[in-house]
Amino acid sequence: MNIVFLGPPGAGKGTHAQQLMKYMNIPQISTGDMFRRAIREQTPTGMDAKRYMDKGELVPDEVVVAMVKERLAEPDCQNGYILDGFPRTVAQAEALEGIATIDVALNIDVPDEIIINRLSGRRVCAACGGTYHVSMLEGDKCPACNGELYQRDDDKPETIRTRLAVYQEKTAPLISYYREKGLLSTAVCVGTIEENYQKVLAALKTKD
Ligand code: AP5
Repeated sequence: MNIVFLGPPGAGKGTHAQQLMKYMNIPQISTGDMFRRAIREQTPTGMDAKRYMDKGELVPDEVVVAMVKERLAEPDCQNGYILDGFPRTVAQAEALEGIATIDVALNIDVPDEIIINRLSGRRVCAACGGTYHVSMLEGDKCPACNGELYQRDDDKPETIRTRLAVYQEKTAPLISYYREKGLLSTAVCVGTIEENYQKVLAALKTKD
């Protein structure tokens, strides 16, 4: 199954994609994670992407599309994948149609006030990439692998506001885009992570 996860920053795309990846045994392809890795490795793509990400803006479409095209050609994508954070513009969605057939676009719907709390409390493990909220942590190490936890540079309040505005302008139109194609399914995710995950699983079995 080829799945697109739509939803605003902090909706839980990464959290639920990681759960689903283990359950369905297909890879999670997060363009945000790919760019963060490229930044850590100081590649030219990473250095270019950082200028946009630090401001909460989108990386140019042609850069993201080329990166995803290359990733989808890898052997582990043969039996399906979860695209987490891609496409994010109508131009990206149109480009994706030329390289893949999408079975479902799952829209994770969460109101802004919940998102701001989630993002400002998010911590990420530098070793395994696990994502947590400070409210679930007892110490300052990753509960899964004991790695160092850090706060993302773009999780500062002013950058979060820009990311939400960019989402409304550039990415929210994809909800209608996929609805018109009969591929949209919506999960309203305002509960606990486990409750939300059950909604995601249920939504994957139906279309809006
Ligand atoms: P990216 O990394 O994709 O960020 P994002 O879409 O803004 O999404 P997030 O990772 O912030 O949130 P999420 O929905 O995955 O939520 P999470 O599961 O972590 O992109 C970063 C940047 O890269 C972009 O701004 C852009 O510059 C660039 N980029 C990436 N893709 C691009 C593209 N296609 N085109 C152009 N540019 C691109 O959850 C959030 C927090 O909530 C966690 O701490 C989690 O533990 C917590 N949480 C608490 N309670 C719950 C609950 N009940 N359910 C779920 N999560 C909960």
